[in-house]
Amino acid sequence: MAELTRERWGGRSFFLFAAMGSAIGLGNVWRFPALTYEYGGGAFLIAWIIGLIILGIPWMMMEFGMGRLFQKGAPGVFESIGKKWEWLGWWPVFVAFLIVSYYAVVISWSLNYAVDSATLAWGTGEAGATGAAGYFFGDVLNLSEGPSVLGGLQWPVVGALAGVWVVLFFIMFKGARVIGKVAAWTVIIPWALLIVLLIRGLTLPGAVDGLNYYLAPDWGALTNPDLWFGAFSQIAFTLSLGMAGMFAYGSFVAKKADINNNAFITSFTNCATSFFAGFAVFSIVGFIMQSLSVPVGDVSASGLGLAFITYPTAISMMPALAAVTGVIFFICFFFLGIDSAFFLTYGGVIAPLRDKFNWGRAKVTAVICAIGLVVGLLYTTQAGLYWLDIVDRATAFYGLLITGALACIVVGWFYGAGKLREHINSTSDFKVGAWFDWMIKIVVPAGLLFVVIYGGFKEDVTSAGYGGYYAWSWPIWAILVGTLLFSFWLQAAKTRAPQEVKLK
Ligand code: PHE
Repeated sequence: MAELTRERWGGRSFFLFAAMGSAIGLGNVWRFPALTYEYGGGAFLIAWIIGLIILGIPWMMMEFGMGRLFQKGAPGVFESIGKKWEWLGWWPVFVAFLIVSYYAVVISWSLNYAVDSATLAWGTGEAGATGAAGYFFGDVLNLSEGPSVLGGLQWPVVGALAGVWVVLFFIMFKGARVIGKVAAWTVIIPWALLIVLLIRGLTLPGAVDGLNYYLAPDWGALTNPDLWFGAFSQIAFTLSLGMAGMFAYGSFVAKKADINNNAFITSFTNCATSFFAGFAVFSIVGFIMQSLSVPVGDVSASGLGLAFITYPTAISMMPALAAVTGVIFFICFFFLGIDSAFFLTYGGVIAPLRDKFNWGRAKVTAVICAIGLVVGLLYTTQAGLYWLDIVDRATAFYGLLITGALACIVVGWFYGAGKLREHINSTSDFKVGAWFDWMIKIVVPAGLLFVVIYGGFKEDVTSAGYGGYYAWSWPIWAILVGTLLFSFWLQAAKTRAPQEVKLK
C-alpha cells in the first residue's frame, strides 16, 4: 500500500542530488577548511576520512535503509521498531525544526550581503577591511549587549527571511518530485560558483601561502584527541545525519533502488566538495595575510566570521572584480544553504508530520513555513546572534550526536543490524558484510558518544556549532533555556561580557 501511495523522487539522480544538496551546506565552506587548518592540515584529513568511513557511511546507510524499508520518516521508522521507540524519531524532528529556524536567518544575511556587495557597503580599501566587523555587528545585526536585550527587529533581515520562507514554500509544497529537480540546480550552481571563486582566489597575491597553511601536515597532531573530536564532529555535521531528514529522503526511494552505492556517492561527493571549498577559502586567507600583513592565526577562517567579516574584508582589498566576487560568494552561500534548509523542513519536519497525521501537503507546508518565519524573527532582533548561538549549540551538539548514537543503538540491537543489512544488500550492487552490523551496533554509537562526552568536558566546544560563538559567556537563564530544550546541558556558565565573545 505504502509502495503505491508513497511519494517518489523523479528518478535516482534526483534522489542523489537532493541528498547531496542536504549534506553540502554552509558547513562545507566555513567549517571544514578552518578545522583542517586548526588541527594539522593533512593529519586532520586522515582522521576525517577515517571518520567518514567508519562512522559516516554506515550511519547514512542505516538512515537511508531504514527509511526505505519502512517507507516512513524517522518517527514512523522507530514506531515500527516498537511503539516505545517512537519518541526517538520525534526528537530529531524537533531538532531539525529549531535548526532550520536559524539556518534560514543565516541565508537571509547572505541575501542582504549579496545586495550590499554590489555597492561594497562596508567600504573599500583599508577602511573597508577594518570596517567589515563593525558593519556586520553594527549595521546588519545592530547587536545588543546580551541575549536579554532583544531590541527591535532588523527590517532588511526580516524582509529577506520572509523571502526565504516563501521560496522554501514553493519548492516544497508539491513534494519530493519537485524537490529533487530543484536540488539538481542547487547542487550544480554552487559547484560552478566555487570554481569561479577558486580561480579568483588563486589569482590573488599570497594565495599559495594560504594553501600551505591549509594543508601543511602536522603528523604529531594525530595523537591529539582534539583532532579526532574535530574530525568526528565534522563528519556527523556535514552529512546531515541525526536530523530525521535522511530517513524521509530514503523513504521516497523506490523499493528496488540501490542503497549502499547511493550512501557512498552522497558522502564522498559531500566530502570532496568540502576539500575543494578549502582551496577557495584559504587562497583568500593567504591574500588577506599578505595584504594586511597579519599572521594567519589572526584571520578568522571559520564560523560566521569567515562569511560575514573575513570574506568582506578580502573583498574590500581586492584590486579588481571586488563587487562581482562578493555578489558571487553570497549567491553561492544562498544556494549552498537553501537545499539544506528544505531538507530540514521537508524531510525533517513535514514528511514525518504527514506520515503521522495524514495532513494535506500544501497546508502543512504553509503552516510550517509560517511558524518557521515567526520563530525566526527572534534571530532578527538585536539579540539575534546570541540566540542563534544558544539554539545552535543546544540543537546541533546535544541533538544530532545523541539522537544519532541512540538511533544506531536501537536499530542495531533492538531491530537487528543483520536484518537491516539483508534489506539493503537485497537491492545493492555491492554488498556489505557482517562487519556492518558491528559498525551500527558499536562503532558509530561509540564514535558519536566520544564526541558528546569529550566535547562536554572540553570547555571550548565551539567546533560543534554553526555560530561558532562561545556560549559559556551567556547569563545563566539563557543557558537554562538551552538546557530545557534538551535537558542536557553539561557545563556551568562562566560570566563573561558579550563584547569578549570571540569570533571563530
Ligand atoms: N550538512 C550541512 C552543512 O555542512 C549542515 C546541515 C546539517 C544541514 C543538518 C542540514 C541538516 O552545512
